[in-house]
Amino acid sequence: MNLAQRVKSLKSSPTIALNSRVQQLSKEGHDIVNLTVGEPDFATPLAIVERAIAALQQGRTKYGPAGGGLALRQAVSSKLLQENRLAYAPEEIVAGCGAKEILCHLFLALVNPGDEILLPAPYWVSYEDQIKLAEGRPQIIPPEVDRANHLLLTPAMLERFATPRTVGLVLCSPNNPAGSVLSPESLLELGAYLTSKNWWIISDEIYEYFSFETPHRSLLELYPELRSRFILVNGLSKSFAMTGWRVGYAAGPAAVIGAVKTLQSHSSTCLPPFIEAAAEWALSQGAELMRVEIAAMKAKRDLVVELAQQLPDIEFFSPQGAFYLFMDLRPLLAKSEQYANGSSLAWCEALLDQQKVAVVPGEAFGTPGYLRISYACSPEKIREGFRRLALFIKA
Ligand SMILES: Cc1ncc(COP(=O)(O)O)c(C=O)c1O
Repeated sequence: MNLAQRVKSLKSSPTIALNSRVQQLSKEGHDIVNLTVGEPDFATPLAIVERAIAALQQGRTKYGPAGGGLALRQAVSSKLLQENRLAYAPEEIVAGCGAKEILCHLFLALVNPGDEILLPAPYWVSYEDQIKLAEGRPQIIPPEVDRANHLLLTPAMLERFATPRTVGLVLCSPNNPAGSVLSPESLLELGAYLTSKNWWIISDEIYEYFSFETPHRSLLELYPELRSRFILVNGLSKSFAMTGWRVGYAAGPAAVIGAVKTLQSHSSTCLPPFIEAAAEWALSQGAELMRVEIAAMKAKRDLVVELAQQLPDIEFFSPQGAFYLFMDLRPLLAKSEQYANGSSLAWCEALLDQQKVAVVPGEAFGTPGYLRISYACSPEKIREGFRRLALFIKA
């Protein structure tokens, strides 16, 4: 079959494929410890659900405006002011079906064929394919850590991969999959460097509520002079455990926001209005609504650190946010004949086959030789997963 060139280089999301395999094994009766999940393990707060039900009963069941209704964009505007100290008018805000759709439309709006986008690894899997879909070229920046295993992003690292064709940079802090958070010092350093460049800065802040050591700060708050090139992307999936509701948004220059809205008007059309009603209310409550859940996630972060420290030959990035632990398997792989080619994919497949523990191999994030563990599950599951992981490493 003659498929279009543009889809031939795309791969389907490896995390979604892995999840299907895990579900299949579970259906067959295997006792799987699934540490692949990219969504909070707690339920959407009931009060949010009730807002959607009430809106359905009031008949908000027809098309809504492309780009999000005014009330929702006003709710985002108030949230950005109160929680992020950023002033955006509703005309500078677009809401759509998940941050994923917003990002896809953003790359389509900003990237011309052959344009390069700097993408620090490890990176969330969809950025790479979305940039390719826009016929751009992702320039992947390999990871570097400091002595305390904090993942770094420095001007020197960007400078090494920047070319005259560079048009943008993707930032993701707190980071999926690394669990890292850019410190205020590194944001200041990066901001100073970026003011001298004419690049788009796409700042994915979807894990902002899961920043465990320091409150989340957007680079734009520290460097307001970047505003004309800065696009902040966020959504309700992670912060309010609303992954299935599909609510994402972006704030940025009105021309960019307008282009995203036009693209949406020709694809998904709009967010369902009854979902908007629930999202407005969630945004008006803010992080306070999720205080208990966020504290529980932090306690699980502490647990995985304690357990990971007991594993032999395993290093991991210092996890300060999101809900992931990113392990460096390379010292372990180097010691084994079977995996000496550095394939964490083969290692993770064997872990699933032999110990029935599912994790995501680093290949999915541009970093073979690593793996991602999601700790968005019960402490019992986490303990059992690490018990089996230790057995597998020993074997
Ligand atoms: C870093 C990052 N950005 C964006 C998204 C997309 O989120 P959603 O489309 O559910 O809003 C995800 C989801 O896993 C993510 O991890």
